[in-house]
Amino acid sequence: MQFVECRGARIPIIGLGTMTLMEDVCVEAVKAALQLGYRSLDTAEKYGNEVWVGQGLAESGVAREDVFLTTKVDLRNLASPDFERSVDESLEKLKVSYVDLLLIHWNNPEVPLADSIRSLCKAKRAGLTRHIGVANFTTTMLDEALKHADEPLVANQIEVHPFLDQSKLLAKCRELDISVTAYCPTARGNVPGNETLERIGRTHGKTATQVALRWLVQQNIVAIPRSANPDHLKANLDIFDFELTDAEMAEITALKRPDGRVVNPPFAPQWDT
Ligand SMILES: NC(=O)c1ccc[n+]([C@@H]2O[C@H](COP(=O)([O-])OP(=O)(O)OC[C@H]3O[C@@H](n4cnc5c(N)ncnc54)[C@H](OP(=O)(O)O)[C@@H]3O)[C@@H](O)[C@H]2O)c1
Repeated sequence: MQFVECRGARIPIIGLGTMTLMEDVCVEAVKAALQLGYRSLDTAEKYGNEVWVGQGLAESGVAREDVFLTTKVDLRNLASPDFERSVDESLEKLKVSYVDLLLIHWNNPEVPLADSIRSLCKAKRAGLTRHIGVANFTTTMLDEALKHADEPLVANQIEVHPFLDQSKLLAKCRELDISVTAYCPTARGNVPGNETLERIGRTHGKTATQVALRWLVQQNIVAIPRSANPDHLKANLDIFDFELTDAEMAEITALKRPDGRVVNPPFAPQWDT
């Protein structure tokens, strides 16, 4: 496993996404992933599955301290004291005393960033999380957040895959020394079957999904593909024995298209273009 290092955080470059995984499917996916060598799990208050993620972790036989565990505070709970209650409940459901990364899941324009970022920093100082970060933050939101942060923000979790142009936001994260975690790294199932990715994959003996994940990893971007399929879980880790050429990297980057975004709920911010 490779790691992305950022301001004291050491984040496994591949983690397991768990959105929509519930009950036994979730428990079994988490256990299978950890037994295969995953050391990072991504959940959120909003997913309603922290209890099963925690159960999978506990039953996996892998030590808690060896796993990088991320959860997120829902946008309805960003104002104090909801924020603090939300974090306590997440820890209780996960059955852990701390998470490794606590994120603001989506900004809520009705709660000043000064307040939500202060609560995030407070959670870190209280030892409830080892690191803090944000998700779905744009370039302007990152600038604003940093004005209020007196603890380092180590990650911005955003949608990144070959069909979406995130160049402006990626450059901003690099400039600010904030690591990027790519959600929907397989564009939620749109990567398999893509002709270019399949062709590049064939030259390396890999699938289109593995090529898309490798494209992220070669940019030092953390990826958290979700799967409940043991073969896919294994394949998504098996991306460290080949290298995409500069020409292949450029060809994949050129797959971006204007309608490439997968996640765009009504409460999303004005995205960077
Ligand atoms: N911060 C946010 O706002 C936010 C938003 C969205 C997602 N996320 C996080 O990011 C994670 C990943 O995003 P996502 O779940 O939306 O999308 P994704 O990981 O791009 O796509 C998941 C889909 O890809 C399939 N898949 C995975 N590996 C595969 C493989 N090797 N070959 C073929 N199909 C494969 C899975 O099916 P199988 O189960 O059949 O493998 C599943 O249907 C989420 O689970 C969540 O933890 C965060």
